[in-house]
Amino acid sequence: MRLDKYICESTTMTRSQAKKVISQGRITGSAGPIRNSAYKVADNEQICFDGKSINLRKTRYIMLNKPKDFICSTVDEQLPGILNLIQVDKREQLCIAGRLDADTTGLTLLTDDGQWSHQVTSPRRQCNKRYRVTLAEPVGQSAVTLFNEGIQLKSENAPCLPALLEPLSETEALLTISEGKYHQVKRMFAAIGNHVLELHREKIGGIELDPALAPGEWRYLSADEVASVK
Ligand code: URA
Repeated sequence: MRLDKYICESTTMTRSQAKKVISQGRITGSAGPIRNSAYKVADNEQICFDGKSINLRKTRYIMLNKPKDFICSTVDEQLPGILNLIQVDKREQLCIAGRLDADTTGLTLLTDDGQWSHQVTSPRRQCNKRYRVTLAEPVGQSAVTLFNEGIQLKSENAPCLPALLEPLSETEALLTISEGKYHQVKRMFAAIGNHVLELHREKIGGIELDPALAPGEWRYLSADEVASVK
């Protein structure tokens, strides 16, 4: 797509306003400022206006405060899928960047940008996820050390990467992990003889769950939030 068209489709600028900001050198691509309105924007090239990334509107990035008893999939018929909560066109094209269990609540990211989703979930990127955990048994200082050293999960060859456990009270803690193994948080606590009663995801990379979102509510991510993943 031509650069001036890209800007019109990503912002509220008219074609002539887009041409003007291009000629002023305020638009940058991957190789720096672009002053040619006919420049062809490459797939997935990050275009910035005055240093802030702008994204084509057709690509959607959403944060949802997932409630309990909704599943991050479309196949289970016992429980409704989280896509039912997102009333947008072509919602079936949204993919979930990091699934949560049915009984886990909190920050869930959805997008139709497959590459972006991959950046969030790829094990190689080691994107941090922070959870608020409520436990059945008291969590002591020894758990902090064990998590920091790397918990060995049942049926896994290698131990987990070091995780940051921050006790908040006897049975509540924040846990930050950089992997996304199946049921990882519950299995980590099970491995030290504890049991997760409540699990809530608060943060993925630099993106924090918006406290204004009640369970079941969602909003689009800001350009800065989207860019924070790249
Ligand atoms: N770890 C879990 O055990 N469950 C989740 O839903 C997310 C992380």
